[in-house]
Amino acid sequence: MTTYWQVPPDCTPEADAVQKAAELLRQGKLVAFPTETVYGLGADARNTQAVEAIFTAKGRPSDNPLIVHIAGMGMLDELALAVDPVSRRLAEAFWPGPLTLVLPCRPGVLSPLVTAGLDTVGIRMPDHPAALSLIRASGCPVAAPSANRSGRPSPTLAEHVREDLDGRIGGLLDGGATGVGLESTVVQADAEGRVHVLRPGGITLRQLAEASGAPVVSGGGRAELAPDGLPDQEGDGEDSSFRPRAPGMKYTHYAPQARLTIVQGQDAAAVAETIRNGLRDARQNGERTAVLAPAEHAALYREACDLVIPCGSLGDLPAAAAGLFAALRRMDEAGIACAFAEGYPEEEIGLALMNRLRKAAGGRVLEV
Ligand code: TXA
Ligand code: MG
Repeated sequence: MTTYWQVPPDCTPEADAVQKAAELLRQGKLVAFPTETVYGLGADARNTQAVEAIFTAKGRPSDNPLIVHIAGMGMLDELALAVDPVSRRLAEAFWPGPLTLVLPCRPGVLSPLVTAGLDTVGIRMPDHPAALSLIRASGCPVAAPSANRSGRPSPTLAEHVREDLDGRIGGLLDGGATGVGLESTVVQADAEGRVHVLRPGGITLRQLAEASGAPVVSGGGRAELAPDGLPDQEGDGEDSSFRPRAPGMKYTHYAPQARLTIVQGQDAAAVAETIRNGLRDARQNGERTAVLAPAEHAALYREACDLVIPCGSLGDLPAAAAGLFAALRRMDEAGIACAFAEGYPEEEIGLALMNRLRKAAGGRVLEV
């Protein structure tokens, strides 16, 4: 049985729901909670049985490390063996906020399952009253991946968590829609003080560079990283001296049931023409079709497919990012066999948006 609690936007650690949820965490149960990025599925990061339950509930391979969520700077120094000056600057600039720092892990303080055997740990302080209240009330460092079943998009609404995990977890704090809608930026500073972006997210490359005063290495944003965010062995060639350590396997990642293709290019008319041609072919084969496009282009596809899913606007990339995962869930619910998505500009949050969209498309991108 999963217990559901509504929490207000100004939720405090003393709130009844938070106290009860914190008690579950202390007992080694799982509690899902909102953050400013996506919903997390939390467990006491010191308790191996509790952490094991995360992997079971999600159906996630247990050699992919988890992010540990904290509520104060004191907890950072308890968990990290050392915090280099660049990482410290980033923490001070962006916490609480959508940034995860990979740091050397203090031995013995966390369940070894959290770090999947690495000697580093990903740490972040989420910018959400319910998340911070839950961590404070429980007194636990909280290990939390996104609260979706493995192979589903990350949840941006409590309803998404319920769809995926009802009956499999102890409780869920429902704080409404999350803000950023994409997971945190994961970074690791190297010995030279350069900042390596392991996963693009809510904190942009420009923000990282400005706050750290250090070079930011991202592989042009495209050198992602194995499917769930770990560095890809192919890498980008830019940072051969530094290889963030990654577990030995590649992870399956979310892909919609539909065969999704991204179409991008400077000429909006050419993009629309290519998508409409693709839709015509799919419909001739009797397939249900959908298009995911910025709101201002939705009308271009109304007649040409079964479902148009407007996703933000070209002038408002944060809104497109916030809506992406819900849009992908809609596509699955509608039983779509063939789908197209317009590409978004890969600037600012658009970099993380396109990173997730490209993964969902399994790398199928048409440049026109
Ligand atoms: O926004 C977020 O980060 C959300 C919310 C719930 O906080 N969490 C999240 O967790 O996205 P998850 O488990 O879905 O993604 C964690 C990412 C994975 O790509 C994992 O490989 C990477 O962080 N990661 C964690 N610890 C790491 C480490 N020690 N070294 C390298 N990568 C690490
Ligand atoms: Mg995830």
